[in-house]
Amino acid sequence: MEKNDRIYVVGHRGLAGSAILRKLQSAGYENLVYRSHRQLDLMRQEQVETFFRGERPQYVFLAAARVGGIWANSTFPAEFIYNNLVIETNVIHSSHLYAIKKLLFLGSSCIYPKLCPQPMGEACLLSGYLEPTNEPYAVAKIAGIKMCQA
Ligand SMILES: NC(=O)c1ccc[n+]([C@@H]2O[C@H](COP(=O)([O-])OP(=O)(O)OC[C@H]3O[C@@H](n4cnc5c(N)ncnc54)[C@H](OP(=O)(O)O)[C@@H]3O)[C@@H](O)[C@H]2O)c1
Repeated sequence: MEKNDRIYVVGHRGLAGSAILRKLQSAGYENLVYRSHRQLDLMRQEQVETFFRGERPQYVFLAAARVGGIWANSTFPAEFIYNNLVIETNVIHSSHLYAIKKLLFLGSSCIYPKLCPQPMGEACLLSGYLEPTNEPYAVAKIAGIKMCQA
């Protein structure tokens, strides 16, 4: 990336997104773009497409997601699969439509099979059953990875 490339940090107020934003700022990237949840609801396809059409980012760091621990995942499985699939679909597909150069999508250890050999290797992806408590979240994450590859 060049220092004046337009870079969109998605979820810049979250734990991972705020760290990415700080790192980019301290490294001298000066053309950063970001929006709060209130300014841009990533669940709304029309809003996301309008944003991409207007702002034309060249690089995207996707760190917005519905995230939580075991209790939240077990209690709200429908929200975890739905919100994550929709956010990924809207951001990754808009990135595709508007021909961004690169997109960084964050994975998670939960995407790997529960009983995969340790240390986990990337080749283990989709080779066995997932941990059931966060399966909806993991399935959405895996779909996001496959969307990026596609
Ligand atoms: N933290 C970790 O240890 C860890 C480990 C592995 C992977 N990851 C991955 O890193 C990514 C970010 O995780 P995180 O821990 O940084 O989560 P986080 O702190 O909860 O941040 C997520 C961000 O996404 C935003 N967001 C959620 N729904 C949105 C929507 N509909 N529209 C706009 N913004 C929305 C949230 O804004 P609001 O709060 O305003 O809703 C929040 O700023 C996830 O994909 C996660 O799987 C994190």
